[in-house]
Amino acid sequence: MTEQSNWPDELLAWFDSHSRCLPWREKKPRNPYHVWVSEIMLQQTRTEGVKAYFARWMELFPTVQALAQAPEQDVLQAWQGLGYYSRARNLRKAAQEICVQYGGSLPETAEELAKLPGIGDYTAGAIASMAFGQVVPAVDGNLQRVLARMYAVEDDILSTSGKKKLRALAEQAISPERPGDFNEAMMDLGAGVCIPKNPRCELCPVREACKALAQGRTQELPHRQKRKVQTEYYADCAIFIRAGQVLLQQRPDKGLLASMWEFPNVLAAAEPESFARLKKQMGPVGDLYWQHTHVFSHQIWHVKAYWGQEIPNLNRSSWIPLTEPAQVPLAGPYGKLFQVLCQEGLFREEEAAYLVAERGDEGK
Ligand code: ADE
Repeated sequence: MTEQSNWPDELLAWFDSHSRCLPWREKKPRNPYHVWVSEIMLQQTRTEGVKAYFARWMELFPTVQALAQAPEQDVLQAWQGLGYYSRARNLRKAAQEICVQYGGSLPETAEELAKLPGIGDYTAGAIASMAFGQVVPAVDGNLQRVLARMYAVEDDILSTSGKKKLRALAEQAISPERPGDFNEAMMDLGAGVCIPKNPRCELCPVREACKALAQGRTQELPHRQKRKVQTEYYADCAIFIRAGQVLLQQRPDKGLLASMWEFPNVLAAAEPESFARLKKQMGPVGDLYWQHTHVFSHQIWHVKAYWGQEIPNLNRSSWIPLTEPAQVPLAGPYGKLFQVLCQEGLFREEEAAYLVAERGDEGK
């Protein structure tokens, strides 16, 4: 036995009195569908931000069956703002598979769960341990960081060898009696105490066992590769408004932001090229109305929106009412532009002008 062997019990005792009260952490037994949806949402958004999305999702799609039967556009719309829309598509696809292959109930082992679309090893471990009590770790970035510090792991935590080592350590440390609580306690510790920069070791319930702390290396560990560079693009778009509606275009069904809607735009590596192509494709444009920089994981879009002047003929385009919530799921920055236009009430002025014109026509 090493001096490190008891730390999981101390961690669980801390979790019993410090566990965060979250809408998906209901009384035991946990609802597996709730655990699943919350875990997918939490992959890209902080806990506070997820609460409202989770509540709304459960109103719209209260069960696996309801999600399986929902139109894809409704599901994407409920996801709007969370980003990474393939995750919402996969939730729906997996719900359909669960209905067909498992009679509507989630499978209970990490191995079976990981066969479903959008469920990787981490999510499978989280659901299997928290909802079904399977003794299996859920190794996310939090667990990796905590374990790398606890055991002073030298490997790059994103390398294959590093991941393997950390998983083995998690398997060794996990509580056989309370596997789900252990995983969540590690997440809470990683989120609030053993944070990436300036860890709050004075608050840590397991600091006595931490090798990085003993060696004075908590700032240095874990070792990690540099992030991939992000490619920058210039996205010039045109705004066409008619009768309280705006002209939007649907993106291709594959690739980044597949099937989402956006303002008619061009994407280029340099700004002059983007503007020249915009005018070529959408005709002359008026003043610059709005600009915004949107950061995705691997791309940065510098978006500029100009008033369009001559309505172009575009593939996969539709006139969409300028009212919130939007009737179609909007791609990242274009959702913001849509919101700005709604808030400015531009559609109301336009609509008034349109109605006057129509009544005028009737009178003739
Ligand atoms: N982050 C991801 N999953 C979580 C969970 N179940 N509890 C707290 N933070 C999390």
